[in-house]
Amino acid sequence: MRQDEIGHGVAEDYDPFGKAHLADPHAFWTRARRERPVFHSDEIGAWVVSRYDDALAVLKDHRRFGIAIYRARTSSLTPETLAILATNPVTARSLIEIDPPGHTRLRGAITRALSAQRVAAMEPRIRALAGALIDEFAPLGRADLQAAFADRLPVMVIGCLIDVPEADLPQLLRWAWDRVALLFGEVPPDAQPALARGSIALTRYIQDLALSRQENPGDDLASDLMRAVAAGEAPLDAQEAAAMLRTLYFAGFETTVRLLGACVLRLLADRRRWQALLDDPGSIPAVVEESLRMDGSVMATVRVARETVELGGATIPEGALVHVVLCSADRDEAAFTDAASFHPGRDRTVGHLAFGFGVHFCVGAPLARLQMRVALEELVRRLPALRLVAGQDFRYAPSLLLRGPQQVLVEW
Ligand code: HEM
Repeated sequence: MRQDEIGHGVAEDYDPFGKAHLADPHAFWTRARRERPVFHSDEIGAWVVSRYDDALAVLKDHRRFGIAIYRARTSSLTPETLAILATNPVTARSLIEIDPPGHTRLRGAITRALSAQRVAAMEPRIRALAGALIDEFAPLGRADLQAAFADRLPVMVIGCLIDVPEADLPQLLRWAWDRVALLFGEVPPDAQPALARGSIALTRYIQDLALSRQENPGDDLASDLMRAVAAGEAPLDAQEAAAMLRTLYFAGFETTVRLLGACVLRLLADRRRWQALLDDPGSIPAVVEESLRMDGSVMATVRVARETVELGGATIPEGALVHVVLCSADRDEAAFTDAASFHPGRDRTVGHLAFGFGVHFCVGAPLARLQMRVALEELVRRLPALRLVAGQDFRYAPSLLLRGPQQVLVEW
């Protein structure tokens, strides 16, 4: 084969919503890294970056690669649904949508408010929430662990983080899923307005919470957010605080939901891994780290090229979207020895990119790690006999950005 023919077909074969890719994207990414590490996809309208070093180069360089967001597919939404969504009361941009210098002020405020002490103090609460969920299904002997546990815990944890009354948590859970279903699923027209109202109700709820904490500050994250201002900088106003709380809510829940399901699935798929946790629960943090590398729930993130850039043998033109495939980077053989195998506690020379890198590195990473550890500790302690129900198919929702099983049937 001639040199210029190698890699031919990679871009054409990229089919992110195809059945085979959804079931297992990694065969494709192994080939892309080898044959054509940076390519343009007409399918998604972006340059796709699959190698670790190239992904890192993009994420490190916020001057040449600015933050961008994929617009959720709104083309299938009805005019009535769009009119409801247009009543969104919180229009301030949040830190995930802007770059320095605007980003720096918002990031400083959330970094101080989401301090290590605040996260550590949440452990007993997270353990109690996980325990209460397990209490609900433990007597049954069989459950969908995704629906009964992984889909529910992270929303409750975020609810605690932003200090909403416990009685409101079930409602917040429903609203949060309304939004996900509406913006990322295929919803028939007559079901859309109710989901849109749920999504807006959640934003209103968060806005009211920010306003009430501005009027009556307390010892909670939202109040700290408005107080936590570096010298010489303007404090966050209630709009900005509401936008930040909403971002925490959205960035913090489905990501953790998907990782939790994928991690439990990986551990049970080879029960020696589960047994290793039973034998040594102290290994859980290393398992979480390796699961982040191999099952990272945020498959990709997106940037825009601020100037024409040479990367991985391709020329990315100014203004183009750049799709950085974190899940591919994290299995790059050039960065991780025996990259396709699960080795908790592996020797690392480089860190995984499951939480991103650079200025937009995940602000919730310590909370996500804590939550994963506590959830696994409680499952191991309470349901040591946990195993997968035999013969089930694992389905993954069509998404460019997030990945995790939709259902994990278990018995014990
Ligand atoms: C396993 C769970 C999680 C994963 C895999 C994850 C992954 C990520 C990634 C990859 C980014 C960087 C996006 C980019 O560079 O474009 C990010 C940013 C962010 N994450 Fe997470 N995340 C998780 C949990 C959380 C939680 C629990 C919270 C909230 C408490 C959170 C809040 C955020 C926020 C606010 C940002 C934006 C930071 C910025 O722009 O400066 N995440 N996350």
